[in-house]
Amino acid sequence: NFINGISSFHVLESQIKERLHLEHVIIVPGNSDNQLSIKEDLGIACVQFLKGILTANQTVAITGGTTMALVAKHMKRVEHAENCTFVPARGGLGEQVENQANTICAEMAKKANGNYRMLYVPDPLSEETYYSIIEEPAIKDTLETIRKADIVLHGIGDAITMAKRRKAPERVIEKLKKEHAVSEAFGYYLDEEGEVVHKVRTVGMQLEDLTHPKYVIAIAGGKSKAKAIRSYLRQGMSNVLITDEETAEELLKG
Ligand code: G3H
Repeated sequence: NFINGISSFHVLESQIKERLHLEHVIIVPGNSDNQLSIKEDLGIACVQFLKGILTANQTVAITGGTTMALVAKHMKRVEHAENCTFVPARGGLGEQVENQANTICAEMAKKANGNYRMLYVPDPLSEETYYSIIEEPAIKDTLETIRKADIVLHGIGDAITMAKRRKAPERVIEKLKKEHAVSEAFGYYLDEEGEVVHKVRTVGMQLEDLTHPKYVIAIAGGKSKAKAIRSYLRQGMSNVLITDEETAEELLKG
């Protein structure tokens, strides 16, 4: 099925494309909920897709998470795309260091023989700190690079799973439950309709900045994430989805 990065799920891919209003869909076999190797295939498929679109001197903004960490694990040098810059899309969001955007960024850049920028900011930030930190020259400079990103790579998570993993305060978890949050991406929590119900205040890319990059690529698999993927994609901000077979079948049921 998924040999040398070439998918044979063309029918399923076109169905998802049409149903979820996407420009590109890539499907790997299996269900990444059950097997780490399937999640690795998502990473491999993402690198493969990236190889096809990346050109020299581009900027790639990325988020954190375990799926994105596997993209970095399989990242390779792209011959025709020298001198690219990798930037974290937003602040750390409370992830463990190996799953933070900064860490993943540095690994991607190293493997791609490119450059990277870091965002050293704690999160969530108070309103006062947020407005003063974005005026810091070093942060301002990185933020400009982020906003100019040509490509964005991001994960999608189940709202409550992500809030707990990131040790969100109990009052935030209560709010998410009360407002029926279903998905999380970029530190934004969305309900079933794709409406934002909560947002972690941190510097970097905001949801509205996603209208600029040519490719906004969501990498998310596992049947347990199907509801979250559907919810997030209702925002209409991403145009590429890389997922697995069982998740894709589940997406068609909704
Ligand atoms: O924003 C979404 C999460 O980063 C997804 O995390 O890839 O570990 O499930 P995950």
